[in-house]
Amino acid sequence: MHWWQTGILYQVYPRSFQDSNGDGVGDLRGIIARLPYLVELGVDAIWLSPVFTSPMTDFGYDITDYTGIDPLFGTLADFDALVARAHALGLKLLLDFVPNHTSDQHPWFAESSASRESDKRDWYIWRDPAPGGGPPNNWLSEFGGSAWAYDPASDQYYYHAFLASQPDLNWRNPLVRAAMHEIMRFWLNRGVDGFRVDVIWHLIKDEAFRDNPPNPDYRAGEPPYRSLLPVYSADRPEVHEVIRGLRAVVDEYADRVLIGEIYLPVEKLIAYYGADLSEAHLPFNFSLIETPWRADMIGCLIDRYEKLLPPGAWPNWVLGNHDRPRLASRLGLEQARVAAMLLLTLPGTPILYYGDEIGMSQVSIPPGQVRDPWEKNLPGLGLGRDGCRTPMQWDGSAGAGFSIAEPWLPLAADSAISNVESARADPASLLNLYRRLIGLRRARPALSRGAYRPLAHTQSLLAFERAADGERLGVALNFSAEASDSLILPEACAGAVLLSTTHERSGEVIAGPLTLRPHEGLIILLDSKAPAP
Ligand code: GLC
Repeated sequence: MHWWQTGILYQVYPRSFQDSNGDGVGDLRGIIARLPYLVELGVDAIWLSPVFTSPMTDFGYDITDYTGIDPLFGTLADFDALVARAHALGLKLLLDFVPNHTSDQHPWFAESSASRESDKRDWYIWRDPAPGGGPPNNWLSEFGGSAWAYDPASDQYYYHAFLASQPDLNWRNPLVRAAMHEIMRFWLNRGVDGFRVDVIWHLIKDEAFRDNPPNPDYRAGEPPYRSLLPVYSADRPEVHEVIRGLRAVVDEYADRVLIGEIYLPVEKLIAYYGADLSEAHLPFNFSLIETPWRADMIGCLIDRYEKLLPPGAWPNWVLGNHDRPRLASRLGLEQARVAAMLLLTLPGTPILYYGDEIGMSQVSIPPGQVRDPWEKNLPGLGLGRDGCRTPMQWDGSAGAGFSIAEPWLPLAADSAISNVESARADPASLLNLYRRLIGLRRARPALSRGAYRPLAHTQSLLAFERAADGERLGVALNFSAEASDSLILPEACAGAVLLSTTHERSGEVIAGPLTLRPHEGLIILLDSKAPAP
């Protein structure tokens, strides 16, 4: 078993984790100072959103130097110190690799846009205007408007899947591939344990640049990008060869991991493990974020994913990230506890988003303080991502222990009472539930690597079994606020409660039928002598 299979990953959004130099923005020295907290929480690895040199139009997802650390975050020496400290504490460290696009201020783009004859012209995607004028085709930017930006000097357009200040690289060009592979080696040689690869399913676009077809399911009020089906601009068959190339670089080093960011339904997602598992070790599975929070729907999703996984492919589950609304606000604090139990008992690698372990909420950002370019481009659609990127709430002080200065995004209004310090002191806190769940997952191989078997799923109840080395654990989760919605588990779920989301039943011996209380989740050590249901 590899560390990234049995381990737990934790996403750090560096701008918001810990400020060490009083500028209101988190940095690498700040992360170093907070590593003991992650050890205490019990996670195995962290992945950092981008810390590279950037004008920050998309907060680091617009890079001007792939091998430089942005001064806002520190220096390369600080980065080396972070890797060394993390490793000394037994933590792995993954970087966010952003190969699909650079900043328009990257020297490569400056050279590419200098003239049609530039040596690097073909490093980006340049096309002539459509025959009657205007953009070469109908492709849309995820962040609003056409995905093509016009360059009057050369009378051509360049393609940008996101902001116009994030031109897409041309991954059909072998020189681009070679340059990016070298960048990966630069960081792997510095000791990083792998990469989370940004928008990996976007890397190759249709060679003929065909128009995307309309999306028949598009509803008014949705982001305009969704009005077309991006069948020609993303998820192209040729992308798999490119990903095999990335994987080959990672495989030059021992025990590193390649994770791909992919927003696709599980049916399409599993293709990114690659033939003979030659692509991403873990294609991020965001389906828990995308599926309505109903036990029957989540149960069907788990079963579908389990069935679809290619032989030997390792599953993974994500509940939150820097692009999606905060879990605690989406589900409510009581269901956030049930969600924590689900995430840490499902088969496959769990990935946590910073602050979700203390129930950080989606912060509402006053119009004047909006930073996210997506919200700025398309205001009023509820797309803003600032609210899930606010500073980590460490303690009850004015700056929440994050910074002595005005933070770059406002703190949650409840940070004085909802923070790590207060959660630590409260045995019933979400943080302490996370710690117990992580401890249990570590102590019980049935949870980290055991087989999965569904037991029941109805509208409110999800129950399954995990088993390894002759040990069977039952997990039963009530997705509803109603005791009356609770259901009866099969007879064979007799055993002792190891952990309860509400603490009311820890240690209780359950013989016979079990009815779950509102918002209750239980992990039960099943009596091995009981007959299988
Ligand atoms: C990914 C990142 C997101 C970013 C986008 C463009 O989806 O997670 O934050 O804006 O790529 O790089």
